[in-house]
Amino acid sequence: MDNKETVIVLDFGGQYNQLIARRVREYNVYCEILPYTVDIEKIKAISPKGIIFTGGPNSVYDETSPHYTPEIFELGIPILGICYGCQLMAYSLGGVVNSAVDSSSSEYGKTITTYNTNDVLFTGLPETGVSWMSHRDYISKAPDGFSISATTSSCPVAAMSCPERKLYGVQFHPEVNHTENGNLMLKSFLYNVCGCEGEWKMDSFIDTTVAQIREKVGDKGVVLGLSGGVDSSVAAALISKAIGKQLTCVFVDQGLMRKDEGDYVEQTFTKLFDMNFVRINCQDEFLSKLKGVSEPEAKRKIIGEEFYKVFWNKIRESYGSGYFAQGTIYPDRIESGKGDAAKIKTHHNQVGVPKDINFEDIIEPLKDLFKDEVRVVGEKLGLPHELVWRQPFPGPGLGVRVIGEITAEKVKILQEADAILRDEMDKCGYAEQMSQFFAVLPGVKTVGVMGDARTYDELVAIRAVVTDDFMTADWAKIPYEILGKVSNRIINEVDHVNRVVYDITSKPPGTVEWE
Ligand code: XMP
Repeated sequence: MDNKETVIVLDFGGQYNQLIARRVREYNVYCEILPYTVDIEKIKAISPKGIIFTGGPNSVYDETSPHYTPEIFELGIPILGICYGCQLMAYSLGGVVNSAVDSSSSEYGKTITTYNTNDVLFTGLPETGVSWMSHRDYISKAPDGFSISATTSSCPVAAMSCPERKLYGVQFHPEVNHTENGNLMLKSFLYNVCGCEGEWKMDSFIDTTVAQIREKVGDKGVVLGLSGGVDSSVAAALISKAIGKQLTCVFVDQGLMRKDEGDYVEQTFTKLFDMNFVRINCQDEFLSKLKGVSEPEAKRKIIGEEFYKVFWNKIRESYGSGYFAQGTIYPDRIESGKGDAAKIKTHHNQVGVPKDINFEDIIEPLKDLFKDEVRVVGEKLGLPHELVWRQPFPGPGLGVRVIGEITAEKVKILQEADAILRDEMDKCGYAEQMSQFFAVLPGVKTVGVMGDARTYDELVAIRAVVTDDFMTADWAKIPYEILGKVSNRIINEVDHVNRVVYDITSKPPGTVEWE
């Protein structure tokens, strides 16, 4: 969508930057995160309705701390500074920022805050409430022309504003749930200060994107690598809506997916959508490359390389012209304001097209969306609920859940055990409460007794975690009866398994996957 109403989040290296952008989007305003190193001319060209300065770990007095040209305050564009962003605004405009290292003015956590409810950010809200603070330095004097709009017992300027210049600052974090009514403060900034109208809606996103794809592609073909994950699936559904059979999805089934998953992906896309669907079954090739390999990184490398080899060979052979599409989403390509040089994070979705294949261009229809938005688009396009909300699944698939050397027999045992786990978790309604759960085949044999006979067979481990971001995770406290049922069924129904254990390791020190 060109010329869409946009708010810019200027990233000074804070930890909640994506959260701020998502909050803005939740209020139907399109939002982009730009690093503090961005040229002001780029900001002028975007002509945003508002700008939000994020927090950051620095002190405005550090030699290396991120600053921005004060010209930004002269553009007449509303600005909201949050935490470090608020201090930077105060410092740049002649206020006083003090270091709180030796004083009692640093604040961390929930803090009782008193608001001036005549201020536009706080109108209609209670005069006192809890805000979430995380700062060492503090503003002791707001710049001339600003009034103080919130205080705490140790922070003389917890919020400040200069309505004439549309400049606002808050020392606390309104984007964090712990700040009572923080979302309404952000909403007020967007609607009452910036004058946003809230036109960023997923229905209009779909209509506009479909029209853009049609116009760009004309009568040419588009090829997309479909993994069955959320992002590539939603991209496929969206492009199919735009151009139907001009789209070809290539699905490489390396035989390391969950039980029946390859068939499920094929059926979903061939039955529900108008497109060409090409499935390449290549379990044998993958297994022969993996024969005798047990080192985890070596396995990952082989699976990744083999995948791209098979995929690009197919493209070269049959589809090496027209357009190439991929399911890149916004977090895959955000430039970070952390550190001196802003870098774009590399991500497995950002596949480099080999030089000898000459596509006219790359189409990334989801490149502006956050994961939650991608899911909404997926549901609106008619993708099944379970696909849209599916758990993350590692690129190397069950290859990192069969510990040690991978064989067809081990993959089969793991698929059967994993299917039972999923079935039981679905039945008891626990599945949606877990962030991720799966079975692992550690390749350990133990002694057991079945009937009257001694057994010496495989051990299966169950892993289930709860997490917001997968950077840290808690092991899930699944009730014993459910674990008991899963264990019974796996031992009775899966050949060659005589023992089941439950992994009670959090991350850190463990990782979610075992390899
Ligand atoms: P770890 O094991 O690093 O997993 O704690 C965190 C999350 O990342 C997923 N994961 C991967 N995803 N390619 C992926 O696309 C990979 O190689 C990979 N390894 C781990 C894992 O399933 C979990 O959700």
